[in-house]
Amino acid sequence: MTSGETEASKDGEFWLFGYGSLIWKPPPHFDRRIPGWVTGYVRRFWQASQDHRGTPTAPGRVVTLISEDYWSTLRDRDPHPSPPDNKVWGVAYRIIPSRVDEVKTYLDIREINGYTIHYTPFHPASELHRPDHPGEEEERGPIRALVYIGTPDNDQFVGPQDPQELAAHIYRSEGPSGLNRDYLWGLERSLEELCPESGDEHVRDLAERVRRIAAREEGGGVEERDVRREEHEGHHEFRRRESVDEVEETEKMGED
Ligand code: SIN
Repeated sequence: MTSGETEASKDGEFWLFGYGSLIWKPPPHFDRRIPGWVTGYVRRFWQASQDHRGTPTAPGRVVTLISEDYWSTLRDRDPHPSPPDNKVWGVAYRIIPSRVDEVKTYLDIREINGYTIHYTPFHPASELHRPDHPGEEEERGPIRALVYIGTPDNDQFVGPQDPQELAAHIYRSEGPSGLNRDYLWGLERSLEELCPESGDEHVRDLAERVRRIAAREEGGGVEERDVRREEHEGHHEFRRRESVDEVEETEKMGED
């Protein structure tokens, strides 16, 4: 994985789009975080994870973006074929100019397992969804943003999977950053928190399947609603990190 030659910029600014763990585990050194979407992609749990939510011998599954053109050539057995309005929701971060190189190095390590750098127009959500900054970003229009994508030619790309088998795989996977199911549920929750329309049916459906598996496997009267409640109680609240030295979970410089 290499840093791009071109800056993700608008007026010399550097913006990063996150559609997976970057939504709830932000990069260091940002001064703006804006919910919004990109188009032309489908989000899928089709990327193997050997370093965060699985191991080299038992890789877990994390999300990547599939270009709609390529995706339309595949036999995707997922019951929720494309995102509503063709929007893939996530967040964009504006990185403090003096820290851009440092953040790129951090990201290159964090996203090393098959992700490469791409650039895409990011559409900030309307002020309706961002009462903290009314109007401001809407006037700016799309922002060119850097995004990490696991493309179909990378070694960790898995491709279409049966949703129930994928859910079972996620349920049993675990890596240095924690349980694979916590990544899935964390993504579901952080998407739901962005705005009323930002949910993703692929993510929601998988999360529901894993909740049912957990309720069954963990048996002994564990109800689905208990799984959901425990998961909420354990919710890692979004917070801004000011330094790359401030690490979470078990990661060093490779948080997922
Ligand atoms: C991202 O969050 O944008 C990249 C995928 C991931 O690390 O989950």
